[in-house]
Amino acid sequence: RGPEPFTPTGQPEDVPQEALAQGGAYLTTALGTRLPDSDHSLKAGPRGPVLLRDHHLREKITHFDHERIPERVVHARGAAAHGIFRSYGTAATVTKAAFLAEGAETPVFVRFSTVLGSRGSADTVRDTRGFATKFYTSEGVFDLVGNNIPVFFIQDAIKFPDIIHAGKPHPDREIPQAQSAHDTFWDFVSLHTEATHHTLWNMSDRGIPRSFRTMEGFGVHTFRLVDAAGATTLVKFHWKPKAGVHSLVWEEAQLINGMDPDFHRRDLADAIEAGAFPQWELGIQAFPDTPEQMFEGIDLLDPTKIVPEELAPVQPIGLLTLNANPSNFFAETEQVAFHVGHLVPGIDVTDDPLLAGRLFSYLDTQITRLGGPNFTQLPINRSHAVVNDMLRDGMHQTAVHSGAAPYKPNSLDGGCPFFAGQQEGGYVEVPVEVASAPRVREAPATFADHFSQPRLFWLSLSPVEREHVIAAYTFELGKVYEQAIKERTLQVLAEIDPVLCEQVAAGLGLPAPKAAEPLPSVTPSPALSQVGKVWPTT
Ligand code: HEM
Repeated sequence: RGPEPFTPTGQPEDVPQEALAQGGAYLTTALGTRLPDSDHSLKAGPRGPVLLRDHHLREKITHFDHERIPERVVHARGAAAHGIFRSYGTAATVTKAAFLAEGAETPVFVRFSTVLGSRGSADTVRDTRGFATKFYTSEGVFDLVGNNIPVFFIQDAIKFPDIIHAGKPHPDREIPQAQSAHDTFWDFVSLHTEATHHTLWNMSDRGIPRSFRTMEGFGVHTFRLVDAAGATTLVKFHWKPKAGVHSLVWEEAQLINGMDPDFHRRDLADAIEAGAFPQWELGIQAFPDTPEQMFEGIDLLDPTKIVPEELAPVQPIGLLTLNANPSNFFAETEQVAFHVGHLVPGIDVTDDPLLAGRLFSYLDTQITRLGGPNFTQLPINRSHAVVNDMLRDGMHQTAVHSGAAPYKPNSLDGGCPFFAGQQEGGYVEVPVEVASAPRVREAPATFADHFSQPRLFWLSLSPVEREHVIAAYTFELGKVYEQAIKERTLQVLAEIDPVLCEQVAAGLGLPAPKAAEPLPSVTPSPALSQVGKVWPTT
């Protein structure tokens, strides 16, 4: 018997629903023995000692004792919804992925999250937001595991534990929960200046979204699409909210944190329940797949860089509608397991060194978080495509596999159809040339520019948006204890723009340093500043 077909509630279809909740006619033990009483332990007389032989008491308490699983090491707090993705077919010229064919409809599950706070932290903190989408396609699961900010703090995954250690609560006092009052965070981002671009987005209004429904989403890395003939195109993925991009102002965010720390998850669930289904268009920026993997001088493998939409417009390829709330938070929102390596034919990865580390990290962490290697069988993670793997046994194995020979080729269970060469229709990695190069631990020269794109972003902001950025840096740095960290951060701000640096320095009561070198001349990008604006769509 293979895995059960997926149902939204995650239950085998032949089990009556009332038997799976507390709503049935009577209660039972975990194994179905009917219980007359679940309120009183078995005792020697009404006032007597409780008897160890009371299996129901022990089963009930033991199960309760094990209800918690580890929270995610990052993105622990989140909220999610089911939905549907309808493809416009406009990407069919560049990818053979079936779910991107014209008119294809694919069920999805989307989880939004903050990054640094724990499961019980507040929603409207200043932080990056996760925007992870699981597409249950006819060819297997495709996960687009993105954020609401188009760039990342670091260029190489080997620094990921370091940036997260710097951003998570201090190891001694376990405060704070977000990017405020944080010597370690500011220490890291002022020493590792590739973090400047992401940090500037965090300090802008993008760091405090009004609602999950009004956030953009970004795949961040460059991916590679493959068409039926094997031709490839480099792309960046974008989610554009139909409701426009809207943020809170800092005072609102602070008040809401105190008055309704569940503000974002409530907003999402209420909107869906009321039938106001949130929608996003999925879009791609497409670039020729040249050996250099550069576009207009921008290194497409550098996850701290965007490609301005003026240079490469975002082309809409489909519509996402979230139309159903999860019926059980733990079973669905908590147990869902996204992975950038969940790919389908027609979509491949690139050599972005940050992406390479992610390809390792997600499966690894989920084996701990979800208690072994069989979490792909959980209803929320199960593929809607036929699964025919040779993965066997392990903790929490729920499939009862038949056959005697889980290896290929074999001469016992149906022969050896996979024996010779590639299978028609299978996932084939693009045979990209790997350059003959020395083994080194170093970054390419193109990764060295850390300031021109932050400057581009800053110059694109409206006056009121700039005021918010200045206020955010002043507030956050005002909570830093170490003077040297403040001074080093001001030097970073001087490399972005003198006005930004001078205003923040004035707010902190410190002298404003000068940029080490003359600042580059950049053309502001109007599309970068979209707070409150609706993306013009088809
Ligand atoms: C979650 C690692 C960079 C987006 C996670 C988790 C880990 C992780 C371990 C927890 C997963 C789980 O327990 O199920 C890493 C590493 C990174 C990295 C090692 C870089 C080296 C990024 C980037 C993005 C991102 C660049 C966005 C483009 C997310 C999202 C989640 C997540 C959205 C939450 C998924 C969910 O809702 O369950 N990441 N991450 N991460 N990561 Fe990353």
